[in-house]
Amino acid sequence: MTTAAPAADPVLDPLPLLKGLGSLRKLTGMYPPGHPAIAQKLGELDAAVQAHLRRTDVLRLDVIHGEVHVDGLSVRPEGNANAKVLEELTGLGIDSIHISRGVSPADLHGLSVFLWELRDSAVSAPMAVQLAARGVCHISLARLVPLDTRWRATSWAERPADVYDPAYAESLDLMQGTFESVQDGRELKLDTVRHVVELLIEKVSGSSAALAQILAVKMYENLTYCHSVNVATLSLLLARSVGLDAQTIAAIGEAALLHDIGKTRIPLDVIRKPGALDKRERALMESHTVFGARILVEVEGLRRLTPTVALEHHRAATGAGYPDLGDRRPHLMSQLVAVADIYEAVTGARTYQAPAQPEQACLVLARLAGSKLNAALVKAFVAAVTFFPIGSVVRTNRDETGVVVATNPSDPLHPVIALATTDFARVPGQVDTSLREPSGGYARHIVETLQPPLGLDIGDFLQA
Ligand SMILES: [Fe+2]
Ligand SMILES: [Fe+2]
Repeated sequence: MTTAAPAADPVLDPLPLLKGLGSLRKLTGMYPPGHPAIAQKLGELDAAVQAHLRRTDVLRLDVIHGEVHVDGLSVRPEGNANAKVLEELTGLGIDSIHISRGVSPADLHGLSVFLWELRDSAVSAPMAVQLAARGVCHISLARLVPLDTRWRATSWAERPADVYDPAYAESLDLMQGTFESVQDGRELKLDTVRHVVELLIEKVSGSSAALAQILAVKMYENLTYCHSVNVATLSLLLARSVGLDAQTIAAIGEAALLHDIGKTRIPLDVIRKPGALDKRERALMESHTVFGARILVEVEGLRRLTPTVALEHHRAATGAGYPDLGDRRPHLMSQLVAVADIYEAVTGARTYQAPAQPEQACLVLARLAGSKLNAALVKAFVAAVTFFPIGSVVRTNRDETGVVVATNPSDPLHPVIALATTDFARVPGQVDTSLREPSGGYARHIVETLQPPLGLDIGDFLQA
């Protein structure tokens, strides 16, 4: 599985570089241009910068809460002298210096002159403009938003590249429009919601192609409308597997589809913020439950429990969680949506999180069973989804790669797979990994789920 942060070289020591820059800045203030002291310091600084840039295209020095970060990783320099070096820079209103490959001694000199001139004046025009006016290239300066690590977050495509099932594609489009219009302050379109619930019940939740995309890891930024369609589909799957009646199933579809509607009231930069939320942001994020319930109680014609599920879906089965509603346990319908919600979130990519494979998501659910989640519902969900759901790319103990095209309910660890060549082209036919050899042992085991390789068209494999 890929992670958001690439394997990095050992962290570079930024202090000689920062000290060199500080000294050069003072020298440019003290001596006329071309003075040997300036030339010597400039030579040293340039050598240090170029040494860094041989290992990375851009050298990023950020001072975040008094700590230097090199390329996003914190280094904790000890000692007062070092603290002084940092103070000099931050005192000038600068806590971020990015230097890219191609930087010249003239650029570094221009930077130190600019920093010297900042001595008496606060930063007025944008720093990029001021640097450009001095002919300084390959260097950018900025004030950082505290703890902003956005630049190193992975950016994912906004939605699945190809949607194989037309009803799933239609549901995504309709809910995107619905969420956007609520975000703009318009009323929730009840007709659209009903139509999508119908599509999900009658088509999407029974379509292998759609389920393959919903159950397997999702390599795209899982925005709220998409997450909502997926959670609703998974909730329907779970509701069916525990034998609920048609009326209840329809109510669950609606409630699950709208469980996160309150997120339309939360600024997108908080929803997509990589890294930890601060206290205020966390409180705001958690309030999507209350916002959601408020939006939904105002809509006439929705089912009775739809606002309840929006309010309670982050409450624990034992009664904890948010919002604080005392010891009251959430409605069973909220507990059901909570299981689908967590599975969907864990297998989905976010700016701050690489997606997890289905079997890892099932293990997450298993860990939460009995505390946050209802244990019986987790058991039913994992049985319905299985560890290797349709659409998973797997490796067998014979070192074959294949795509799961059917599951064996009586033997969930041994699905039917379509094999792939080393170039990920489909090998005709299917292999049932639950088949046994004359000795009684399995002919094949699934060893692991693989990250789907870029460009792999799972739809190709799902066609019989
Ligand atoms: Fe939520
Ligand atoms: Fe959710």
